[in-house]
Amino acid sequence: VFTTAAEAKTYVAQHAFPLVIKADGLAAGKGVVIAANQAEAESTIDAMLSGRRHGAAGERIVIEEFLAGDELSCIAIVDGERYLLCEGSRDHKALEDGDQGPNTGGMGAFSPTHLWNETRRRTIATTVIEPTIAGLARDERRFSGFLYAGLMIVNGNPYVLEYNVRMGDPEAQALLIRLQSDLAEVLLSAATGNLQSTALQWDPRAACCVVMAAPGYPGPVTTGTPIQGLDAAAQIADCVVFHAGTASNDGQLVTAGGRVVGVTALGEDLRIAQASAYEAVGMIDWPGVQHRTDIGMKELC
Ligand code: GLY
Repeated sequence: VFTTAAEAKTYVAQHAFPLVIKADGLAAGKGVVIAANQAEAESTIDAMLSGRRHGAAGERIVIEEFLAGDELSCIAIVDGERYLLCEGSRDHKALEDGDQGPNTGGMGAFSPTHLWNETRRRTIATTVIEPTIAGLARDERRFSGFLYAGLMIVNGNPYVLEYNVRMGDPEAQALLIRLQSDLAEVLLSAATGNLQSTALQWDPRAACCVVMAAPGYPGPVTTGTPIQGLDAAAQIADCVVFHAGTASNDGQLVTAGGRVVGVTALGEDLRIAQASAYEAVGMIDWPGVQHRTDIGMKELC
């Protein structure tokens, strides 16, 4: 953990690349850089610690080992003591196809995933989720709500990359469209410390969510651009267009943020869900819109 550039640069000079450099504060999911070499590491350290890149959130940075593996999102609903696990889901954090380009808050997600089998679910429950809930309670930070563990599966073993205390976006879209249990009832039980042990019920079909983002994202974006085709996309069966950064301007829907909509579809299998989601994506448009064309391919290839 570093607060001065000189110490951070000395550290990276002594370690093998790639290295992961993180702003310690809140950076809207964009505070992580995987530095491939010394030059990239040094410019990232300077940009973060000077406050240029993330303001006060970058005044302290964390440098970590790079883990190569498969990312998996595990989301638990916790009532302070008991918990229910959501099905596994997978995000696509890089802006461009093939996991290229800058890191974003998430450009698409799918659920379920073969990474979430019964053995791994038990391992994650007992080695990650349960110790975390117990540790929070021991520290007198008894937690109820969504506990999100962002995991990297390396050689079959889960490593925690990050925790969030929210559902995760766009994993939420891929999960909520599959959730058959009454979400309000479950959340009320969690909030009142009364979670029942009945497992959550899930639609067995697959869900695929494709994020459509404004030009410039994950950097500064132009907003206020009219969005075309939302009504046509809404006609596609088992497809929901979740609004993230939209606004109504005299009755016309316009862009109002970086990630604008999360186009999400259900299908008998992931390939069908993916095809429906991309059919809807093809109907929605605005100048400079960005989206990945390979959401779900991690599972399908
Ligand atoms: N999709 C990752 C997150 O919401 O942080």
